[in-house]
Amino acid sequence: VRALPSREVHVWLIPVAAAPTVAAVLDEDEQARAARFHFDPDRTLFTAAHGGVRVVLGLYLDVAPADVRFGSSDLGKPYLVDHPEVSFNLSHSGDLAVVAVAAGREVGVDVERQRPLHRPDGVARRIMTPDELARYEAADSDEKARFLLCVWARKEALVKASGQGVRTSLTTLPCEPGPDGPYTVVDLDVPGYAAALAAFGHDWHPVVTMLDLI
Ligand SMILES: CC(C)(COP(=O)(O)OP(=O)(O)OC[C@H]1O[C@@H](n2cnc3c(N)ncnc32)[C@H](O)[C@@H]1OP(=O)(O)O)[C@@H](O)C(=O)NCCC(=O)NCCS
Repeated sequence: VRALPSREVHVWLIPVAAAPTVAAVLDEDEQARAARFHFDPDRTLFTAAHGGVRVVLGLYLDVAPADVRFGSSDLGKPYLVDHPEVSFNLSHSGDLAVVAVAAGREVGVDVERQRPLHRPDGVARRIMTPDELARYEAADSDEKARFLLCVWARKEALVKASGQGVRTSLTTLPCEPGPDGPYTVVDLDVPGYAAALAAFGHDWHPVVTMLDLI
């Protein structure tokens, strides 16, 4: 069984290429969801993500990946039915899925492939605080695109940690919550992606591993 020290938040990077190796562990419901994707890359990434999360969680829970049982909160945040003390969160984008796992603290993770966003200035106005927007507007165009995706990933990670999803007003949620806030958020260094990890409290650090199946 893999240890999960209370001050560590483990982050697993799962490449889309893991899909064929992990496809067999999906349950019926996940297989049906995968089959509904008409676009093959989306189906393959979904398979890698949901198979990968089972493989990763199986390492900590000492159960076969196919036997990991998920529930989902009223707002849709998945949790472990048999192990509520272990929290996890999943995100996928481009060719990559990312899973965060922690003991005794809520976690949220978001990964976004670096790409030009449609109407970026409108997105910035919808998600940024006034201070963030001022910094965005003062930046040159390369820095603008990088900063926008970074803010996006951080806020997604924060709202996914709290489980609140779309209910949160993003224009009043700073992407750098101070020491008084309940959560800490850090950027993850993943080439080609903006990625962020949020977790409850301030007494933790991330430990990043690539899931090596292939
Ligand atoms: C649910 C939500 C958090 C998912 O985010 P996403 O970027 O579309 O997708 P991600 O790949 O990062 O995450 C999806 C996974 O998050 C998990 N998830 C679903 N609902 C969740 C919730 N309420 N809280 C935390 N995690 C959730 C699931 O594992 C899901 O995987 P699945 O869709 O394959 O089953 C998102 O739709 C949402 O509510 N966003 C609100 C904030 C917003 O408007 N952001 C705009 C830019 S900051």
